[in-house]
Amino acid sequence: MGTLEGKVAVVTGAAMGIGRSSAEIFSREGASVVVADIDEAGGRGTVDLIEASGGQATFIRTDVSVPSDVAAMVAHAVDTYGGLDCAHNNAGIAAPLAPLAEYPDDGWDRTIAVMLSGVYYCMKAEIPRMLERGGGAIVNTASGVGLVAYPHQAAYTASKHGVIGLTKVAALDYGAQGIRVNAICPGTARTPMVDEAVQRDPTLDAYLKTLHPIGRIGEASEVAEAAVWLCTPAASFVLGVALPVDGGYVVP
Ligand SMILES: NC(=O)c1ccc[n+]([C@@H]2O[C@H](COP(=O)([O-])OP(=O)(O)OC[C@H]3O[C@@H](n4cnc5c(N)ncnc54)[C@H](O)[C@@H]3O)[C@@H](O)[C@H]2O)c1
Repeated sequence: MGTLEGKVAVVTGAAMGIGRSSAEIFSREGASVVVADIDEAGGRGTVDLIEASGGQATFIRTDVSVPSDVAAMVAHAVDTYGGLDCAHNNAGIAAPLAPLAEYPDDGWDRTIAVMLSGVYYCMKAEIPRMLERGGGAIVNTASGVGLVAYPHQAAYTASKHGVIGLTKVAALDYGAQGIRVNAICPGTARTPMVDEAVQRDPTLDAYLKTLHPIGRIGEASEVAEAAVWLCTPAASFVLGVALPVDGGYVVP
């Protein structure tokens, strides 16, 4: 029997990468899963994978930067499975790279809209439904770049630092009401987002390995396992943390 048998989980950015892996692991642990993403084909692919393994999942097209989409996502979970217990707010985009004074304003706006406001809209919609169930667990995907800075990454760094701040506020606001809110801070994990960056600059692969004291980059599933664990009863006393899952990236 899984650790989340009978629970309902929503995962944003679940069409690929860390989110797809998280959706599959929530299902392995017994949860019914709402797969949310702007990528319909990828999202339906995740549902197919879960159903092929005997799990229950449904897709809803959701742009997390649009509050009405996020409200519809949570309503879909309640209508389909009767409530909401767990959420992994994970959708993300590759932000532009430029020195701060040359940073493109449209790239700043889009990055903040998806990766910071998106997490805010998600928690705002999810928390009332979790309160109705007497509690729940939320994990937000921040980044190692939520804990330290990376040059030329103003928008990504600011948005991920912001996700950690939002996570802590929500933990303080709702921890005593049974909702545990935490964040994960991945180092580099092999996902389509990273594969595309490496294709653009093949020297990046070797460089990224040097940034991780463990001597390699991670797999999406290694990050997703930690995210789902934070939503299980095994993490019942863990609240408001920003957990590095990064092969030591933030240690030096
Ligand atoms: N892979 C890494 O090395 C790494 C490291 C640190 C943090 N992260 C974070 O992990 C999360 C997942 O990243 P990934 O590497 O799996 O990326 P990915 O590109 O493989 O997957 C991201 C998913 O988010 C979806 N998405 C993008 N914009 C969206 C929107 N507005 N609404 C809903 N869905 C949207 C995409 O369609 C895609 O399915 C992101 O928040 C990313 O910033 C990744």
